[in-house]
Amino acid sequence: TPEGAAKASGSSPSGEFLIGEVSSLTGQEATFGTSTHNGVLLAVQEINEAGGINGKKIRVITYDDQGKPTEAAAAATRLIVQDKVHLLFGEVASARSLAMAPIAQGKKVPMLTHASTNPKVTEDKDYVFRTCFIDPFQGAVMARFARDTLKASKVAVLRDVRNDYSVGLANFFVEAFEKSGGQILVDQSFSAGDIDFKAQLTAIRATNPEAIYVPGYYTDVGLIARQARELGITVPLLGGDGWDSGKLTEIAGDALDGSYFSNHYSLDNPDPRIQKFLKTYQAKFGMVSDAMSALAYEAIYLAADAARRASSTEGAALRDALAATKDFPGITGTITIDSERNAMKPAVIVAIKGQKWVYAGTVTP
Ligand code: PHE
Repeated sequence: TPEGAAKASGSSPSGEFLIGEVSSLTGQEATFGTSTHNGVLLAVQEINEAGGINGKKIRVITYDDQGKPTEAAAAATRLIVQDKVHLLFGEVASARSLAMAPIAQGKKVPMLTHASTNPKVTEDKDYVFRTCFIDPFQGAVMARFARDTLKASKVAVLRDVRNDYSVGLANFFVEAFEKSGGQILVDQSFSAGDIDFKAQLTAIRATNPEAIYVPGYYTDVGLIARQARELGITVPLLGGDGWDSGKLTEIAGDALDGSYFSNHYSLDNPDPRIQKFLKTYQAKFGMVSDAMSALAYEAIYLAADAARRASSTEGAALRDALAATKDFPGITGTITIDSERNAMKPAVIVAIKGQKWVYAGTVTP
C-alpha cells in the first residue's frame, strides 16, 4: 500500500526504536541537560550492544531547548511530526515538560520524563509518564526532616515565582510543615535569572527563622546562599532536587555548609547498583554522575523494557506497556507506574558539609 511504502522510506524505519530527547544542553540549567544526555547515551549504548529490543536498535535524536519552555514545545512538535519518533523523552524541568506534554498527548505519542516532579505534568494525559517521585511527597519529606530532625518550628520560604516546579514544591512544603505544627514566618519570591537577592534575604533575616526553604535551581540557589551568608544569615538553607548539580558548590563555595536538600539518590549511597553505575559513568564521561544521569539512564532502560513487552513501537501499544510497568529495577529505586502514570520511589536527604555532599538518610513514601 502507498501508506506502507511511505512508512518504509520515512525517517523511522521499522527496524529501530526511535527516541526523541529534549534537553537543556545550554542555558541556566545546562548541567540538567548534559547529564541527562550522558545518561541516555550510556543506556542506549549498553542496550544496543546487548542486542537492542527484540533485535531493533535504539536511535536517539536530541534537540537543545536552551532551557526555554517555548523551545521545548517546538522541539517536541518537530520530533513527533518531522522525525516521527516513537517516544518523546524529557524534559528535566517541570515547566518545560508542561510545555511538551499536551503536544505528546494530542499526537498520541508516549512521553516519558525521568525528572519532572510537578504533579501537573502527567495529570489528565494518558500518554504522559514519569519515572520519578512527585513534589507533594518531596515537599513533605523536607518538611518532616525540618520538624523532626532539625527540630525547626519557624522557617522562611524563598521561592522562584517564574518556575512551576519551585512554586509547586514551595506550596507542598508549606502545607506539610504547617500541618505538622510548624509556622511559616515569611514567604518571599524571586525570578529565575535574578542576581541580587538582598532585599528578600533582608526581609527574611528580620523574622529570625530557624531555616530557610529555597526550592529553586542550582544557579540561583548558589547565589542566594552566598548573599545570605554575606548578610549574616547562618541558619541552614533547605532545598529539593533542583539543587542537584556539581555547579551548585562551584557557585556557592562554602556558603551551603550545614544545609540540606532532598534528592533522587546520593553518590555515597552504598547500593551496589548505584556504585556500579557511578563507576561506568565516570569511566565513560570522565566526570562524576549527578542524579539526573542516573534518572535518565534507568528511564531509558524502562522505556526499552516497555517496548520489548509491547512488541511494537506504535503509540497506543507502547503507551499500554509503559502503563503496565511493575517492579522495574531502576537504579534510584524500584519503579511501578501507578494509575496516575507516576512512580512511587524513596527520596534521599543530602547533607552539605563544607563543600561535600553526604548521604543523610532515605525516606520511603
Ligand atoms: N524536579 C525538577 C523539576 O521538576 C527537575 C530536577 C530533577 C532537577 C532532578 C534536578 C534533579 O523541575
